[in-house]
Amino acid sequence: MDLNGAAAIISGGASGLGEATARDLAAHGATVVVADLNEERGKSLADELGGVFVKTDVSDEQQVQAAVDAAVATGRPLRVVVNSAGIGWATRTVNRDGSPHDLASYRKVIEVNLIGTFNLMRIGAAAVAKTEPIDDDGQRGVIVNTASVAALEGQTGQVAYSASKGGIVGMTVPAARDLAAVGIRVNTICPGIIDTPIYGFNANAEEFKAKLVAPVVFPKRMGRPSEFAHLVRSVIENDYMNAEVIRFDGGIRFQPK
Ligand SMILES: NC(=O)c1ccc[n+]([C@@H]2O[C@H](COP(=O)([O-])OP(=O)(O)OC[C@H]3O[C@@H](n4cnc5c(N)ncnc54)[C@H](O)[C@@H]3O)[C@@H](O)[C@H]2O)c1
Repeated sequence: MDLNGAAAIISGGASGLGEATARDLAAHGATVVVADLNEERGKSLADELGGVFVKTDVSDEQQVQAAVDAAVATGRPLRVVVNSAGIGWATRTVNRDGSPHDLASYRKVIEVNLIGTFNLMRIGAAAVAKTEPIDDDGQRGVIVNTASVAALEGQTGQVAYSASKGGIVGMTVPAARDLAAVGIRVNTICPGIIDTPIYGFNANAEEFKAKLVAPVVFPKRMGRPSEFAHLVRSVIENDYMNAEVIRFDGGIRFQPK
């Protein structure tokens, strides 16, 4: 599908993988809508790219509806929905002090990562479904979700995060089947270790990142956000990619810790 002249909404578009995706899609002719909690970064990026920023909590129905409405209001047909908003922190099922994983933080991770992804997918798809098909196949648009390799081989302390990302993986096939009726493809990318602000910037972050890179097979480094963005664009541009879960990880297989 050609991005030129289409609108694309990107959750988590103010930072990291979402930001790189917004830059790449804009460079290939899309009008981007950055839907993110981070107003300062999101607005300055949208201004730079000639797009629109909408302050959005992906888990909130009204806020996501407003962001999708803003995408429709650009006057370009909304054809692309990229879910990249996400959070995560480490807590064990039973902590070292013997206390159980707190339920509030588990719920929060599911709420943002899984329910937030579904929320934008459903509201975004309803808007994409109202556009005219653009080719002989009857295609209207594409949804790209961001899960994680942790969905498949979650590490110690990743029980909430892995559950949320595993849910995104699990939604991929049924969502693609549901949305075939309206000419929308659905794919999910599972990144390994990509160098974004999610790991922080302090000295500990560098040490942590070095440890994470050790099991990467090749190339022996973290992935680059621009490489992720390139994959998102490839999935959008290749019309036969559908209902697929794609590892994007330099061959890494996560170890228990
Ligand atoms: N960086 C990696 O190595 C890696 C690996 C696997 C999966 N991922 C996933 O990729 C996605 C992007 O991660 P990143 O590394 O770019 O992180 P990041 O922290 O750089 O960016 C995440 C963005 O999501 C936004 N966000 C958080 N909660 C939100 C909410 N409720 N509503 C709207 N926006 C919200 C943040 O403001 C931020 O701009 C996440 O879903 C993450 O789990 C990242």
